[in-house]
Amino acid sequence: MIFTVAIDGPAAAGKGTIGREIAARFGMRHLDTGLLYRAVGARTLRGEEAVAAARGLEAADLEGDLRRQDVAAAASRVAAVPEVRAALVDWQRGFARAAGGAVLDGRDIGTVICPEAEVKLYVTASPEVRAERRFAELAASDATLTREGVLEDVLARDARDMGRAEAPLVAAEDAVVLDTSTMSVEEAVGAAVAIVASALPAR
Ligand code: DC
Repeated sequence: MIFTVAIDGPAAAGKGTIGREIAARFGMRHLDTGLLYRAVGARTLRGEEAVAAARGLEAADLEGDLRRQDVAAAASRVAAVPEVRAALVDWQRGFARAAGGAVLDGRDIGTVICPEAEVKLYVTASPEVRAERRFAELAASDATLTREGVLEDVLARDARDMGRAEAPLVAAEDAVVLDTSTMSVEEAVGAAVAIVASALPAR
């Protein structure tokens, strides 16, 4: 079976959780494409030029602490460089169309990487709700974080991800929009699972 679930949306909207759960539920492979950009961003923080970092990306780069705020900000910056995006396209397309079904979450999966995806979800939530979730996730490991600072980061990343010329974050015309602002994790996952289940070919 070739079957792609494309999940796009802004930072901290719940894409990753939904993607992982769908993959587990339907036995598909899952790729968090943000990790690729984070890995490139992390290499630039170590002094490498962004395009060379993207072209030289290795599996080992995907390990390590890529969740940090400075890595996220660097990821958002390198993601605006067309040559960086181009270097990552083929691998993502191969993953999306490999046999067995795949779930990819990111910013441009339904619009650029896999416009032919069988299911497209655009997962979003208000900036305040997303900042609160990110704060709850990161505060335990970083005592310097403040709610205001995290909200500022979320807004800055939204502006960069949605405002860039190359593959900006936008819902595909045929995407189902899932606003998780007032949903629990279980509700959001349940809604997404129902959408995928109804699109799967009868077995
Ligand atoms: O989903 P994330 O927060 O891990 O993504 C980190 C950055 O990578 C995000 O600010 C934008 C960029 N990104 C992208 O441009 N395209 C993708 N498909 C995934 C992430």
